[in-house]
Amino acid sequence: MNYLETGSQSILVVDDELSMREFLQIMLEKEDYKVTLAENGRKAVSLIDRKDFDLVLSDIRLGDLTGLDILRAAKKKNRKVVVIMISAYATTETAVEAMNEGAYDFVPKPFDNAELLSTISHALKLKFKVAAVDESAGETGLYFKRIVGSSPRMMHIYELIKQVALSKINVLITGESGTGKEAIARAIHEQSKREGNAFVVVNCGGIPEALMESELFGHKKGSFTGAANDKKGLFEEAHQGTIFLDEIGELSHGLQVKLLRAVQERIFKRVGGLKDIEVDIRIISATNKNLEKEVIDGRFREDLFYRLNVIEIKVPALRERKGDIRALAQFFFEKYSKEMGKVITKVSSYAIDMLNKYDFPGNVRELENIIERSVALSTTNIILPESLSISIHKRRWIEGMEKKRFDLEEVIKGVSLDKILEEIESAYLKKAIDCCNGNKSKAAELLDVSFRSMRYRLSKLNIS
Ligand SMILES: Nc1ncnc2c1ncn2[C@@H]1O[C@H](COP(=O)(O)OP(=O)(O)OP(=O)(O)O)[C@@H](O)[C@H]1O
Ligand SMILES: [Mg+2]
Repeated sequence: MNYLETGSQSILVVDDELSMREFLQIMLEKEDYKVTLAENGRKAVSLIDRKDFDLVLSDIRLGDLTGLDILRAAKKKNRKVVVIMISAYATTETAVEAMNEGAYDFVPKPFDNAELLSTISHALKLKFKVAAVDESAGETGLYFKRIVGSSPRMMHIYELIKQVALSKINVLITGESGTGKEAIARAIHEQSKREGNAFVVVNCGGIPEALMESELFGHKKGSFTGAANDKKGLFEEAHQGTIFLDEIGELSHGLQVKLLRAVQERIFKRVGGLKDIEVDIRIISATNKNLEKEVIDGRFREDLFYRLNVIEIKVPALRERKGDIRALAQFFFEKYSKEMGKVITKVSSYAIDMLNKYDFPGNVRELENIIERSVALSTTNIILPESLSISIHKRRWIEGMEKKRFDLEEVIKGVSLDKILEEIESAYLKKAIDCCNGNKSKAAELLDVSFRSMRYRLSKLNIS
């Protein structure tokens, strides 16, 4: 049955307040959803056990259980169920915890009716699309043959990959270092019609400016000292395939101008050449910088930015999707055990717990490195926390974090001042936004900063 067409998707509403339950019921039934109500946590859990819901809308404070218990019960029954939390009291920590455990969204009370409805309908649409993507992962848990992780935010990215792969649209992939930007770019290429053709990587930060133009567009013999022959550039190499412009934020101003025409028209000239060369390419670029800020500060051309960023894929940091750590760790363990010819059968849950507590400034790449080293050094066939190759500084840091988030009495070696200040700033900003029910301009007022500065800080700290 296609639920999307019949409009009979089922929603379980969990709230201990009668008026709220009734209100939500009326609002949701008007939209043709099938609504079931639960007035406490136990009732909700028993309903979840007996029936299949498409979506669970739960309050956080329920008297007996908490919304997180409902979330866990629902996800245990069916990993694909969409869970949205609503609360007037939630702290940022609860919200982050809920998102990490797989909640789709966290809506502060009082909410805007239209906005809640649109969140629900978007989540349900995504659920059905994701089911299709999910099947492609099959038993291996690998999406597009190279990507692991089924957190809601990654599932959303898989959906985007499938959508953009169908067209020639320019894609900008943003995210911290090591989050998997290149892996995603390759997945887009492999999902597209261009799959059998070249995928050309250009490291825009790694090539000296003087050489870059000839690297990109090629040159004619004798056009500069050392140009002994005619040479094709990377744009030509990528003809009928995909060009991946990595670290695009590092490109000099002069080259940005030259790139603009090539991006706009897919036409360029070789250095020293007169003839226009036209290519058929898909352009994907990536950066770990905040390019919008680079544009505001005049370091990146606005016109080029808009050309490259037709669709943006934002890859979340690993610490924002801790639910993926276990599967990633398992994947890398298997990969490196096989490569090194070792039999490592099991990663202990203690080892996973330890990894879960770490914040991974180097993201997936750092996790991969930790595990590669751990496998290389291991002598037993089970990985324990001790056998994880995490440096003593990092262990101290994890222990310090466990004890207290900001312990001003004690200075822990290896925890940098910048890191602590960033944590405090981030927690304080989120708290202020929570207090103002998500209203950022009120939050800015509360913190006595300008709205502009607030926006800048939020984007710097990746708070949405
Ligand atoms: N979701 C994932 N599943 C499996 N492997 C991953 C995933 N994300 C990243 N990796 C692996 O982690 C490493 C780093 O990923 P990648 O090079 O794509 O990151 P990046 O965002 O391009 O980093 P940088 O900004 O430093 O260039 C690679 O070995 C990649 O295969
Ligand atoms: Mg990269």
